[in-house]
Amino acid sequence: MKLIDLSPLASLLACLPVLLACASSNGTPPRPTPRSQASTPTPAGRASRPVPGAPPPVKVVHRDEHSFAHPDEVSVEHLKLDLTVDFQARKLAGRASLRLANPTGATRLHLDTRDLDVQAVTLDDGRTPAKFALGEPVRFLGRELTVEITPATHWVNVDYSTRPEAAALQWLDATQAGGTRPLLFSQSEAILARTWVPCQDTPGVRMTYEATLRVPPDLLALMSAENPTAKSADGVYQFRMPQAIPAYLLAIAVGDLEFRPLGARSGVYALPTVVERAAWELADTPRMIDAAEKLYGPYRWGRYDVLILPASYPYGGMENPRLTFATPTILAGDRSLVTLIAHELAHSWSGNLVTNATWNDFWLNEGFTDYFERRIMEALYGKPYADMLWVLGRQDLDETIAELGPESPDTHLRLNLAGRDPDEGTSQIAYEKGALFLRTIAEAVGREHWDRFLHDYFEENAFHSMDTDRFVAYLQGHLLDREPGLAERLQIDRWIDGPGVPSAPGGAPKMTAEAFAKVDVQVQSFVSGGAPESLATAGWSTHEWLHFLRNLPRPIARERMTALDAAFHWTDSGNSEILAEWLLRAVESRYEPAYPQLERFLMTVGRRKFLKPLYTELAKSPAGTEMALRIYGAARPGYHTLARETVDKILDWRG
Ligand code: BES
Ligand code: ZN
Repeated sequence: MKLIDLSPLASLLACLPVLLACASSNGTPPRPTPRSQASTPTPAGRASRPVPGAPPPVKVVHRDEHSFAHPDEVSVEHLKLDLTVDFQARKLAGRASLRLANPTGATRLHLDTRDLDVQAVTLDDGRTPAKFALGEPVRFLGRELTVEITPATHWVNVDYSTRPEAAALQWLDATQAGGTRPLLFSQSEAILARTWVPCQDTPGVRMTYEATLRVPPDLLALMSAENPTAKSADGVYQFRMPQAIPAYLLAIAVGDLEFRPLGARSGVYALPTVVERAAWELADTPRMIDAAEKLYGPYRWGRYDVLILPASYPYGGMENPRLTFATPTILAGDRSLVTLIAHELAHSWSGNLVTNATWNDFWLNEGFTDYFERRIMEALYGKPYADMLWVLGRQDLDETIAELGPESPDTHLRLNLAGRDPDEGTSQIAYEKGALFLRTIAEAVGREHWDRFLHDYFEENAFHSMDTDRFVAYLQGHLLDREPGLAERLQIDRWIDGPGVPSAPGGAPKMTAEAFAKVDVQVQSFVSGGAPESLATAGWSTHEWLHFLRNLPRPIARERMTALDAAFHWTDSGNSEILAEWLLRAVESRYEPAYPQLERFLMTVGRRKFLKPLYTELAKSPAGTEMALRIYGAARPGYHTLARETVDKILDWRG
């Protein structure tokens, strides 16, 4: 298969935002901006106050270098899916009907696909066959599907099926699923929706959707839409998603799943063997929703439910609207890892309501969400608790900057991912540098002003996309201009387009946590030879333990590892975060008694965040590499494609 590298073209396109002047000079009619691409909306005239008599603003539509779509010409405004889920063949098959908004009278529709088998394309009522062509595969992007339409075409229907290797989908047999029935789930972000639905797979385009799914009768089907809470008799399910979303938020899950309510508008789905534990662990979810609304405005999606997936789920969580997907590794038994729920819930504002326009603007999704997440945690559990999250986040950030290199352009908030897999942009920079930038602004202007600003930002830009330049302009106009010199003091350009973290004065405030100061004293006491059981650790939460584990010397002498394990039983910890951190210390220190547990962990857990550091540490020595290859050989079939890609690279795996 020949791969054409279009990256030079793509980067050129990216540099050329399509300028749509509202009035044109050569007499041709003005080109209206598609709804989904409109510039900052101005409900009640609050977003921007036009000067009387001034020319109307020029509207900017970005071409997304990670999509073949031309949404500035014609865009998909509604999707109708009718799919059969075939567990034997590991395929989805059926029809995707796309309803178009074609204000420019375009005669071609360009869609994204990857690894899809397209059988037929028809127009409108399905009786008119359409001419279509699939382009050559392009690295990371898949194949462009071009369909000939007329300015009057309302619907384009694509009959297709997915391939077993569709990167967004993971098909688990009953054993892998951890139950008695098979299970399917999707992970569409960043650009994998196109591996199961032909669509305009760019975050700058939004559509509503409806779907019919036909699944084996004893399984429950769920989507990022209005969901059933019980199995249907015939295995047919209808879905409706009345709020417009970008394609990366399309989601599907099918399995032997049960539902438990958590409150009037939230609940949890999981395997029958997990669902009670999950409901107990996530009991604070309704309070989180209330706290989030109090901070930044109403929850706009109806219900907020969580689906706990099997351990092979490659992420911690994914903010699929109405139905967050989450790893079971947050079920620690003490509710100590629910920050992840606060995070995915916060995306219901930052990301799902106001969406990064392209993957170069990813920090607008994740940095805002990390900031919002910590505000929710502070509201529920107090400032000392949130302070710990900030300090741990700052440590992650500093580690990431050291790994990428202090001058690396990948440490800028605004990324340049042209010609690359957008997955490469998902480092802690977007999350932690993004959140720290927002906290820096908040401290400079004061919380009251900042919270009002953010509340209005979500409200005024709801159901639209946002790019970095427009955010900076919005920030200037709505917050910073009130105080002369503030914008300069905050060094905004350095945060956005500069490396690392701008330091004080004017730069990032120092993060400190009282609780960790106490932990540091205990670390010192251990380092100077204190017996682990004599340390003052009473009442420590997961976060204190993590801080302790992270700050231990590396490596640790064998007998000290043994003493730690005897005192705290970390090798047998049921807390995935603590266990993963301890296993890392164990590999660094060649503490063999923990190796059987390490093997069990790598065999069952597919969360990339844990796999990456553990395999990387193992690969540092020949004996470790040998062990890693042996374990990975057995574990790999149970990992998601995304996790395989990560570990393949670390171990230079050739199968
Ligand atoms: N949206 C992300 C997950 C994601 C990002 C998937 C980029 C694909 C591409 C999600 O909200 C997230 O950030 N998950 C984190 C957990 C969170 C608590 C930081 C994760 O999965 O580790
Ligand atoms: Zn996130």
